[in-house]
Amino acid sequence: TLDLCRPQDLAGLKVVVSAGPTREYLDPVRFISNPSSGKMGFAVAAEARARGAAVTLVRGPVALPDPAGTEVIRIETALELRDAVLAASESADLVVMTAAVADYRAAAPAGEKQAKVAGDVTVHLTPNPDILAELGRRKGRRILVGFAMETHAGVERAAAKAQRKNADFILLNYPTQSGTAFGGDENEVTLVRVDGSFAAWPRMAKREVARRLLDEALRLHRVVQE
Ligand code: CTP
Ligand code: CA
Repeated sequence: TLDLCRPQDLAGLKVVVSAGPTREYLDPVRFISNPSSGKMGFAVAAEARARGAAVTLVRGPVALPDPAGTEVIRIETALELRDAVLAASESADLVVMTAAVADYRAAAPAGEKQAKVAGDVTVHLTPNPDILAELGRRKGRRILVGFAMETHAGVERAAAKAQRKNADFILLNYPTQSGTAFGGDENEVTLVRVDGSFAAWPRMAKREVARRLLDEALRLHRVVQE
């Protein structure tokens, strides 16, 4: 296959990728979630594998087949994602957080299906842990990459996020770009580094975004190894 022809420039490296949405249950049959397709993260996992990395893919519920040759951990909730990513990341050289982690979960999910009531209901939500920020607090020589979708002031907000979370860079996209980001096979992103420098990449296949992401991460990995 084509994969065999690729340079094995990630051989010897361990890469952890998170992908897809999380589900935050209100009761056993209802949850809060988002439309993340997981395609971007699966592309990163497949590309890293093709270049010789040992890959762990922590995946939320999405309709994609598991990429061959990768360790796959299935999760549903943000708390499960956190446990899986933190454990897998202990020995990782690179962590790529493409997962669309729900910012909140139900403070007290019901143990049984809730019947409807007359009138409005109120749900008490509590914040989920910020997994990328937790990784950033124990960063070591690991390279950390995030994704962010912003509707305004994207570069400034993404750079501030990278600083706050101690990530090396963030790939930024805008929900208004038609046919990209959620669900599509292409993405149009801006690379935003923690120092505020940035580069707008043209629209391209998610696999190509993955290739460039890994090029940038490998470059930074080599710098911190020196
Ligand atoms: N992220 C995470 N844990 C969370 C929320 C987000 O690890 N609880 C990661 C995402 O996977 C992504 C990056 O942080 O790589 C940026 O996500 P984003 O939702 O843009 O960041 P937030 O800090 O949640 O900011 P916002 O208020 O804009 O949602
Ligand atoms: Ca968020």
